[in-house]
Amino acid sequence: MRRPLLAGNWKMHTNILEAYLLVAEIGKCAAGLNDRDVILAPPNVALNAVSRVLLDSDVLLASQNVCWAEEGAFTGEISPAMVKSAGAVASIIGHSERRQIFHEDDEMINKRVLGAVEYGLIAIFCIGETLEERESDTTFDILEAQIRKGLAGVTAEAMKNMVVAYEPVWAIGTGKTASKEQAQEVHAFIRKLLAEIYEKAIADSVRILYGGSVKPDNVDELMAQPDIDGALVGGAALNAESFCRIINFN
Ligand code: PGA
Repeated sequence: MRRPLLAGNWKMHTNILEAYLLVAEIGKCAAGLNDRDVILAPPNVALNAVSRVLLDSDVLLASQNVCWAEEGAFTGEISPAMVKSAGAVASIIGHSERRQIFHEDDEMINKRVLGAVEYGLIAIFCIGETLEERESDTTFDILEAQIRKGLAGVTAEAMKNMVVAYEPVWAIGTGKTASKEQAQEVHAFIRKLLAEIYEKAIADSVRILYGGSVKPDNVDELMAQPDIDGALVGGAALNAESFCRIINFN
C-alpha cells in the first residue's frame, strides 16, 4: 500500500508574511489527515518561518531545489544541510522550470538527487515531456532517458526515500491537464521501468505523483487511477481553499 502524497509547490510566490498566512490556513485543514502525507514547498526565504507555524502539525516541508554539496562556493544555491536546518525534510529536484529556464541537464539533476539521498532528504524527482515530444511520439523515450540518467547511482535502498513526479511540461500552468488515462498510462510505464532498473517490490513501493494543472475538480479522478499515488500542485496550491480540497481528495 502506497500512502498518498499531496505536495504544493509555491514556486516564486509569497513573501514571508503571505507564506505565513497561507500555511496557517492549510495547516488547519490538514489537521487529522492521518492516511496521507502533505508536503509544502514555499520559497526558500520563507521555509523557516513556515516551519515554525507547522511545529505541531503533520504537514512536511520541502525546498524547491537543492545543491549536492554540504557547503562551499555555490552562489545562489541551498545545501541539503541548510534545507534540513530550515525545518524541511524533502526537496523537489529536476522541475521542468529548472530544466527549461535554468538549463539544468540530467547530469546536474542526478548530482542533486544523489546529494539529497546522501543527506537523507526525500527527493521529489520530476520528469516530463514537452508538447513537441508528445506530438512526435517520443514521450516514453524521453521519460526513460530522464529516469535512467536522473537516478544513476541511486541504490535500491535509497529508492525508499525517492518520490517520482510525472509532470508533462505542456500541462504545467496551462490549465490543460493530462487526461486520467494519459496520466495512468505514463505512471504504469514509469513503474514498469523502475521494476526493470531495480526490482518489482521497489517499483511497487515508490510513490509516483502526477503534476500539471491539478485542481479541485480533477484531483478525485486522477487519484482514482491505480498508479497515481499523489499530486504535485502549483497554481492551485497558492489558494488555501483549493489546496484544502485537493488534500481532502475523495
Ligand atoms: P501547476 O504546476 O499545478 O500550476 O500546473 C505544477 C507544477 O509545476 O508542479
